[in-house]
Parts: sequence; C-alpha cells; structure tokens
Amino acid sequence: MTAPRTGVVGAGYVGLTTAVCLAERHDTVCVDVDAVRVRELSRGVALLDEPGLPELLEQGLAAGRLRFSADYSDLADRDVVFVCVPTPSRPDGSADLSAVDAAVDSLAEVLRPGAVLAMKSTVPVGTTRRAAQRLAGTGIRAVSNPEFLRESHAVYDFRNPDRIVVGADDADAANLLEQVYGRGSGPVLRMTPESAELAKYASNAFLAVKISYINSLARLCPEVGADIGDVTRCMGADVRIGQHFLRPGPGWGGSCLPKDTAALLHTGRLRNVELREVASACETNAAHADQLAAALTRAMGVPLAAARVTALGLTFKAGTSDVRDSPALTVCAQLSRRGAQVCGYDPRLASLDQTALRRASVVGVDDPYLAAKDADAIVVLTEWPEFCELDWARIAEQAPGAVVVDTRNLLDPAGPTEAGLIHLGNGTPSGY
Ligand code: NAD
Ligand code: UGA
Repeated sequence: MTAPRTGVVGAGYVGLTTAVCLAERHDTVCVDVDAVRVRELSRGVALLDEPGLPELLEQGLAAGRLRFSADYSDLADRDVVFVCVPTPSRPDGSADLSAVDAAVDSLAEVLRPGAVLAMKSTVPVGTTRRAAQRLAGTGIRAVSNPEFLRESHAVYDFRNPDRIVVGADDADAANLLEQVYGRGSGPVLRMTPESAELAKYASNAFLAVKISYINSLARLCPEVGADIGDVTRCMGADVRIGQHFLRPGPGWGGSCLPKDTAALLHTGRLRNVELREVASACETNAAHADQLAAALTRAMGVPLAAARVTALGLTFKAGTSDVRDSPALTVCAQLSRRGAQVCGYDPRLASLDQTALRRASVVGVDDPYLAAKDADAIVVLTEWPEFCELDWARIAEQAPGAVVVDTRNLLDPAGPTEAGLIHLGNGTPSGY
C-alpha cells in the first residue's frame, strides 16, 4: 500500500503544526490564502512561537516532503486534506464559517474522487455533513477530525494526542484517515460526525467550567481563611477530578475557549437546550477583570483614576506570543477604563500584536524594572517562569511600597515581602 499524500488548508497554529508533523512521514502540501505567509514558510521562517516547530519545518523543506502554496490546485493529487481555517465568533456567539465554506468550495474544484476532506477546524454540529452535501457528486468524502492541541505545546500534543477523534459514516474514509495518523499514534475514537463535532466543543467548555469553578473558589478562600493551593492539591489527588486545569488566574482566554463556549451556547439556544453550567462559567469569567480592579483599589488605598499599574505578562498564557482574547489585556483595558495608567511588560513584548495592546490602552515597556517605575500596583497576569527570577529589591527601588497582586500564584511571596512590598496572592488566606 502506498503512503497517502496529505494536504493541509490553513497554515496557522493547527494547520502549520499538522503540516510539519505529517511531513515527517508523508509528502505534504500546505495551502494558505495569505501569500506572504506562504512565502515566509517556504523560506523556512516558522512564524509561530511553538517549541519544535522551526526544526520540523526545516527538516520537511530540506527533505522535499513539505511544500507551501497559495494555490489550491497544488492539492489536486492529495489523498487526504485537513481543513484548518479559522472559525471566529460572530457578534451573536455563533461560529463564522465563511473560511470553512470557502475552503470546502475550493477543494470541491480541485480534489479527485475518493479523496478525503478531514475537518480539523472547530465547527458547529452539522457542518461536516453540510460539507459532504456541498461535495455531493464530486466523490470527495468529508470526515470530522477535531483537533485538541494546546498552543505552546502544539507539536508535542499533535505527536502525543490523548485521543484521535474520527467522525465518519464512511468506514473506508475513516480507515484512510487512520492510515495517515499511523499505528501507535494515539487511541482512535470513531463516532458519527455529529458526536465528534460536539465532543470538541464539549471538551473546551468543560475546561472553561473547571477553571471558572476554581476561580470562584479562589474568591471564597480568603473570606474563610483557606488556601486555594491546598484546596486544589486535595481535589487534584482524586483521580475522578484530575489535577489539571485547577490553577486560579485572571480568567480564561485565548483564541478558542471564549469563542467555543459562545458557539456551544449558541447551538444550545438554537435547539432550546439551556447549558447553564457553561453560561455561568462565562459569566464568572466576564466578571473577573472588574473584581480584580475592585481588589486593587482596596489594596492600593488610592483610586484607580490616580494610580499607575504595571502588568507583568500580556499573553493569554505563558509560552506563547498570542494575545488573542488574552485575559491579561482584558484586565489592562478594564483598569485603563477606570482611569489608571497601565504599563505592561512581557518577555515576548517585541513579537506581540501591537494593535491589540493599543486597544487595551497598555503601554508596552521592554524591561520589567522600567515598567515598574513609580507603580502603585504590580499585577502578575501571565505565568511566565521568568517572573520568578525578578530582583524584587530592584523593583522596590523603582516602586517603593507598591502592592504586588499575583493572580497566578506564581511568585514566592517572600521576594516582594522581604523587599518591603505588599504581596497579595489569589485565593490565599492573606490574599485578595
Ligand atoms: P489561525 O488563525 O492561527 O490560522 C488560520 C490560517 O488559515 C491563517 O494562516 C489564514 O491565512 C488561513 N486561511 C483563512 N482562510 C483560508 C482559506 N479559505 N483557505 C486557506 N487558508 C485560509 O487559526 P488556528 O488557531 O490554527 O485555528 C484554526 C481552527 O482550528 C479554528 O477552528 C480553531 O478553533 C481550531 N483549533 C485551534 C487550536 C489552537 O490552539 N489555536 C486548537 C484546536 C483547534
Ligand atoms: C485550549 C485547549 O486546552 C486545547 O485542548 C484546545 O485544542 C484549544 O483550546 C483549542 O481548541 O484551540 P489553548 O487555547 O492553547 O488550548 O489554551 P489552554 O492551555 O487551554 O488555556 C486556556 C486559558 O485557560 C488560558 O487563559 C490559561 O491561562 C487558562 N488556564 C488554564 C487557567 O487559568 N488555569 C488553568 O488551570 C489552566
């Protein structure tokens, strides 16, 4: 049996990761509508801040197993093509499927009969079957194959998936897709396209619910003298609960959890099924920045309108340059709206989307000590390990008496405290 020739549509976090990983074993062509992106990737510029990705890109290009193109006709001879285009939120919360529809229509024109279109974009229930209807008469088969990788661990997650979900009615198409992944690449769960599509949203929404619950518990902890670290240590020791996604923070964000919870709620509304747990998790999350602003005001003893605040961390989590829907920026925007002057430092500041920073009214300063100058409060918003190495005596010289609010419980409180600063943890007995 000859190895299937693979194709990928969309060279973003999911598409590029998929392409470079597939190219380890398969001849792979990756198409993107962004010609500049295609040119840079073809030159070996990885564009994304993902461990292991530049090396795999280089290897794939050097071996001649990986090519990039802006022309869909370069996918004409592919056996399996993965669709990895964006599905952003519309104002009503529903997923905008225009890029998916455009990709399906373009593939309908070029792929040969028998080819498999694997839908990796996160799409509402029914989208893969609708794609199959659009492809009727072409002989192209559409299969749902949702992706579960995390940003900052994309290559690792693609190579070591907890599960590979194949949502297909056509067993032959499902077999071909499994052949692409190869034996031993992870447990394969076969189901209908509808179940596969819903399973993806259900998983992301569950993670969101889990974090919101922990964030609510963290608010209760200081009120009753408990420590969220101990509470979650106990909870996580129970295998039925699991130890992951129990860390409190400034709220959950990123390019997927917010849009996917919104899309799931939209699907529920269309079917008259209330998903109250998900709705409540979103409400808890939306209230977060406001609660943090109130806690800061109480701790600083000066009104926010007269305060200077330093944000440590601007990305939505550590290990990435992605600021899409970053809770750190939501907090900055909220503090600015209330009149505070907000400076921000992030280890990846130079590569962050500067428009997003401007929209959040945060002034980026490429040095944590300069960023802290004259601050009334210093807020840790992203869990960058680098922040544990900060010289708090030096920061205290810049911002004597400042309040240090650690939303991620990242710091050793002794650092700021011994430097004469006031340290407030999240959900700790003496915290906020
Ligand atoms: P992204 O924004 O990083 O990249 C999308 C790419 O698709 C861009 O390069 C864009 O130019 C290209 N594109 C847009 N329309 C196109 C078209 N018609 N034809 C060809 N290329 C086109 O997006 P992403 O983060 O990789 O997300 C893609 C999908 O995967 C979304 O549905 C998302 O929900 C899902 N997903 C994302 C992640 C993640 O961690 N980012 C994880 C799992 C699933
Ligand atoms: C998430 C899921 O984890 C992936 O499985 C999924 O494939 C992806 O969305 C997607 O569909 O795009 P990602 O967006 O990379 O991945 O980010 P996460 O690591 O899940 O973090 C999401 C948010 O939750 C971040 O703001 C993070 O800081 C926050 N978080 C996470 C917490 O506040 N506490 C935790 O314990 C864990």
